[in-house]
Amino acid sequence: MSIRKPSSALVLRSLLVPFLCVLATQADAQSTWTAGWATRGMVVSDCGLASEAGVSILESGGNAADAAAATAFALAVTFPAAGNIGGGGFALVHKADGGDAALDFREVAPNAAHRDLYLDEQGKVVNGLSTDTHLAAGIPGSVDGLLRLHEDHGSGLVDRAQVLAPAIRLARDGFPLSFWAAYVLNAYRGKLETDEAARRIFLRGDGQLWQPGDVLKQPDLADALERISQQGRDGFYKGVTAELWVEEMERGNGIATLEDLAGYDSKYRDPVRGEFRGYEILSMSPPSSGGILVLQLLEIMDGFPLEEWEWNSSSYVHAFAEACRRVYADRAEHLGDPDHWEVPVPGLLDPEYLEARMADMSLERATPSTAVSSGTPTPREPDETTHFSVVDKEGNVVSCTTTLNARFGSGIVVDGTGILLNNEMDDFSAKPGVPNLYGLVGNEANAIAAGKRMLSSMSPTIVLHDGHPRLVLGSPGGSRIITSVAQVILNHLVFEMPIAQAVAVPRVHAQWLPDRVYYEPFGMALDTRKRLEELGHELAEMEEIGRVNAIEVQPNGFYAGPDVRGGGASAGY
Ligand code: GLY
Repeated sequence: MSIRKPSSALVLRSLLVPFLCVLATQADAQSTWTAGWATRGMVVSDCGLASEAGVSILESGGNAADAAAATAFALAVTFPAAGNIGGGGFALVHKADGGDAALDFREVAPNAAHRDLYLDEQGKVVNGLSTDTHLAAGIPGSVDGLLRLHEDHGSGLVDRAQVLAPAIRLARDGFPLSFWAAYVLNAYRGKLETDEAARRIFLRGDGQLWQPGDVLKQPDLADALERISQQGRDGFYKGVTAELWVEEMERGNGIATLEDLAGYDSKYRDPVRGEFRGYEILSMSPPSSGGILVLQLLEIMDGFPLEEWEWNSSSYVHAFAEACRRVYADRAEHLGDPDHWEVPVPGLLDPEYLEARMADMSLERATPSTAVSSGTPTPREPDETTHFSVVDKEGNVVSCTTTLNARFGSGIVVDGTGILLNNEMDDFSAKPGVPNLYGLVGNEANAIAAGKRMLSSMSPTIVLHDGHPRLVLGSPGGSRIITSVAQVILNHLVFEMPIAQAVAVPRVHAQWLPDRVYYEPFGMALDTRKRLEELGHELAEMEEIGRVNAIEVQPNGFYAGPDVRGGGASAGY
């Protein structure tokens, strides 16, 4: 029997009535319980088992950072499509005492990488080189970043072995596949069977499709996690795992070396900050474009009569698409790794600059993207994925997004480790104007260079009110991350939707190029779509736009916003 995913429109519709509590209905079948509301701690992730791993750490005295590290390591096992130790990510931390940190554990280009890495002798981009091969992998940052998150921001009451224990157990003993996990493995069977090591792990031995409840065991991954548990970062970036990684590279004409791995270092950045209707928005700074673009979109949208227009009206979608056109054009020109490119952060966020960017927008017609180029913010000063959100009883919160880029990364497993290679190098601009997996184009700011971090759209975000967390959120989805996060914030803060509804309702997306407005099924009525077409927008349906996992913090407790577009599941206590 094959497993079909139900249309997300059906799932969404079925969930629009009981907004709160018992919402994670499409969560993992094996999950013993889910929480729509909790008072002492909560984790919302793409997998119930990973959320529970985080909550078990909270229950044993750990704080949000300890729980976030445990959740991420568990996701590397239970959600191999995006959870990882072979990729990278960003974590945004807000401490109950008021301190904030933005931890960048994005992958970096190997030292032998160069700007023409993916071009043939004629200077044309070679199809698939930056996505499906050993050359597609950046040097992974997840292990360094997650260990640093635990060491620098953890409670001190939970040691490294405790943080890694749930992941090791899930990998060694195996875990029953949820409906969604089985669906994703089956859907990507074609990709996974092309690599021998991936085929052995991620395809059923008898050649049949996975069924919910089948147990997936990953003993090599358990050993790799065990080495991290015992030796810390050296258990990954040096020794057996590093040697197997480099052997894998040599087998597949990759370029990463032992020196590349040993030299990886996660970094602290200043989070980007903005204000929106009395709330402080804290988000990820370059090398993510996400935080800046989310703040730009909110600032621009605040200039329109949103309540009068109403949610997802033609005027609302028109203004949102026009704003997207302009901010994504800026992304292509101005955003890149801040250690290699001067990103004009204050200029891009300057309200006067944004007002000027929108000055040529008409309420009566769409601006063709060919008529939009990047602006000149002044001055240039000191730019498949999974998101989870964590809160603890003290009021510490972590918003964390990690990625392998495409689902299952390159689809190649480092033989003997169970670790999937990321294909994050595709997030660089292989050649000016040539779109990547997400249709994003870029220029010099995001050109490939040795040791450089590729530009991201990941937008782990925290919304504060009077210094206290109100929302913790983020999303996977490449370029769609930014528009998903911005819309959930607008849904909640402007249209006053409870978080579960703010996450569940259909979303739209636009990004300069391609010159098109995407909408989810049931996202817009026919007359709204007709009006947008009259304004000059080209429309296209897209099954899923982002997969936001959020938490709303209220005085009486934490409310879950797991995304029903995937396996979003909350756990709390
Ligand atoms: N790999 C998707 C992103 O970082 O934006």
